[in-house]
Amino acid sequence: MIDSRILVGLLAVLISISGIVYVGIGEADRQAEFTKAFQGRSIESGAALYTQYCVECHGLKGEGGVGPTLNSKYFFEQRLADIGYQGSMKAFLTLTVRGGRPVMSDPNYGRNMPTWSVDYGGPLRNDQIDNIVTYIMNWQEAAPDLGDPNAEPTPVPGDTPEERGKNLFTGMGCVGCHTFNGQGGAVGPNLTEVYATKGEDYVRQSILQPNAVIAEGFQPNLMPQNFQQRLKGATDLDDIIAYLATGGQ
Ligand code: HEC
Ligand code: HEC
Repeated sequence: MIDSRILVGLLAVLISISGIVYVGIGEADRQAEFTKAFQGRSIESGAALYTQYCVECHGLKGEGGVGPTLNSKYFFEQRLADIGYQGSMKAFLTLTVRGGRPVMSDPNYGRNMPTWSVDYGGPLRNDQIDNIVTYIMNWQEAAPDLGDPNAEPTPVPGDTPEERGKNLFTGMGCVGCHTFNGQGGAVGPNLTEVYATKGEDYVRQSILQPNAVIAEGFQPNLMPQNFQQRLKGATDLDDIIAYLATGGQ
């Protein structure tokens, strides 16, 4: 028979151990909660800063425009390998945003990426940049597959510029938003007469920089801002314009 005092002692030890374990688990939970809340606040603050400083060139959700796409499978999975960067995505984002790209790496963009960190004369503190980086990293899980922007463009079918332009107009989804010659959507203006009434330069600019001039009665930011990058064939833009120039005739 075990002495009942030993039994009581054992029980007491067991109870206090389970108490310690319980508190320990609670502490881990509490820390996880804290980390999550902290991350949540960082994302929120990063979102606000991104909207203020980056949207203009990288698009509302990182879809790109004046600057490259930051929200795509390619960007998160392939981009660093393509440029031979050995570090993490987080480090790449932090360094690129802090320093900007004072020397243009890709003439396609026609603009430089400004410097952001106060360390180099920019407007943002490094903790603010950390929050923007956390916000961008948060896109990774649901980043859309937009293909490889450096891939050779598949030739657009068609024998004449007008035919190729017509296929691009359908293939790139212009027709979903714009009516041309009696067919298409009404999210954007009817384009049947746009070339005849507003001229080639206007049409070209409207496609490359949709927000430069907003057509009367329509909203900005509806038209995708990244056709400059998506129209990859050497003549794609000219072909679309040639098609629009026909006025559907
Ligand atoms: C005035 C336009 C402009 C603004 C505003 C801007 N960027 Fe950029 N950004 C660019 C351009 C242009 C490039 C590409 C430059 C190059 O490669 O030569 C670029 C490149 C980048 C890259 C590198 C992408 C890659 O694949 O190499 C990141 C990351 C980036 N920008 C993040 C940001 C963030 C975050 C902000 C807001 C704090 C911001 N940018 C604001 C124009 C801009
Ligand atoms: C998601 C809808 C949408 C898509 C897709 C779209 N656009 Fe637009 N587009 C608009 C809206 C909205 C406007 C009016 C606001 C503005 O001026 O940016 C517009 C304006 C224009 C204008 C200026 C019209 C005018 O009268 O001032 C042209 C030209 C144009 N788009 C061409 C195109 C072409 C070409 C494509 C395909 C490569 C295309 N758009 C794809 C929504 C769209």
